[in-house]
Amino acid sequence: MSQKIIDLLNKARSRELTAISQYMAQHYELEDQDFGKLASKLKEISIQEMKHAEKLAERILFLKGEPTSKPDGVAKKGQKIPEMLTTNMALESAAMKMYNEAAMVCAAEKDQISKELFEELLKDEEDHFNYFENVKDHIGKLGAAYLATLVG
Ligand SMILES: [Fe+2]
Ligand SMILES: [Fe+2]
Repeated sequence: MSQKIIDLLNKARSRELTAISQYMAQHYELEDQDFGKLASKLKEISIQEMKHAEKLAERILFLKGEPTSKPDGVAKKGQKIPEMLTTNMALESAAMKMYNEAAMVCAAEKDQISKELFEELLKDEEDHFNYFENVKDHIGKLGAAYLATLVG
């Protein structure tokens, strides 16, 4: 099996590990600020990213590679909600670009299973991106009135 694919899977895993620590950090900060509804959504998305990291590790192990445990970035702390959303949209869109390209490499290398895994992850990242973008748009349009709906 191609080392190229193992490297792509590990690059994706590093990206997932960054997203996990970023969303967990935000989950705790938002919880602390009483934005409980947004906090639970971040927790939910963070758990989805953990599942992504696991699926990537399973595929890497199947290909006889070694799953990395290194994130490719550091979680930002102390951001205001709109900044958090911008951070998250950047993480998700970089992941989408990475997974799109990785799926094409997998197709060229004739590794259908890894290709499907990248496509599955890509779909989830698109959903995450859309969620963050929606919340940001709502805050932009409605401001404090919308923020009040995220309290809980
Ligand atoms: Fe992910
Ligand atoms: Fe995501």
